[in-house]
Amino acid sequence: MPRSFGIEVQDLCFRWYKGETVLDGCSLTVPQGEFWMLLGTNGSGKSTLLKLLANLLPPQSGSIRTSPHIGFVFQNPDHQLVMPTVGADVAFGLVAEKLTLAQVHRRVEEALDAVNLRSLIRRPIYALSGGQKQRVAIAGAIARHCDVLLLDEPTALLDPDSQLDLVAQVQQLVKSRGLTALWVTHRLDELDYCDGAFLLEKGKVVDRGDPQRLKQRLMQVPL
Ligand SMILES: Nc1ncnc2c1ncn2[C@@H]1O[C@H](COP(=O)(O)OP(=O)(O)O)[C@@H](O)[C@H]1O
Ligand SMILES: [Mg+2]
Repeated sequence: MPRSFGIEVQDLCFRWYKGETVLDGCSLTVPQGEFWMLLGTNGSGKSTLLKLLANLLPPQSGSIRTSPHIGFVFQNPDHQLVMPTVGADVAFGLVAEKLTLAQVHRRVEEALDAVNLRSLIRRPIYALSGGQKQRVAIAGAIARHCDVLLLDEPTALLDPDSQLDLVAQVQQLVKSRGLTALWVTHRLDELDYCDGAFLLEKGKVVDRGDPQRLKQRLMQVPL
């Protein structure tokens, strides 16, 4: 399967039913094979934008071009992992694909290798750390052969060590597997790992580009 999809959003508008406008002519591009971050104050529309990208909400106007194979990683992995063990959870995402048992095993092992969790394949989910749970969620997307990853504040509940481990791992996965990723965060130290960043304000991207420049800008006016 050719992996030629990045993320292209043009003039996207969205408002919740009877609510105020959340996205108001929002445009952004994440080139294929790159890892970009999305910054913005609480309520600026970051999660809504990710849901539109994942086709979980319909846009009211504007256009979105991206892969149909999208993996979504939530802030709280306990809302995402549904099976009792690591291996079963990753395999669960493959149910719709009508694979043989051997194919499922191969996909699960390969995906767990990618996030360095193969040795924990039989580990109960409850016995994992927060960072390990997030890596299981990412392995689920890799097992389904997703080529675009959307991560909505995946480090919000992690301690600083697991936080930086996770962001470094996603950076490495994007580069080694040719994925495209958009990662929402408030933590400015994570900007050291990405190729570029967007700042969302009042439903529009008001700044974009070099992550170190955005980091400097936001250190003066924290989110
Ligand atoms: N399910 C919903 N129904 C109505 N309004 C919502 C819903 N989810 C979010 N909103 C509103 O949309 C706006 C943007 O929210 P959100 O996308 O969650 O922002 P962020 O992720 O940047 O904090 C906020 O004003 C929020 O209250
Ligand atoms: Mg949010």
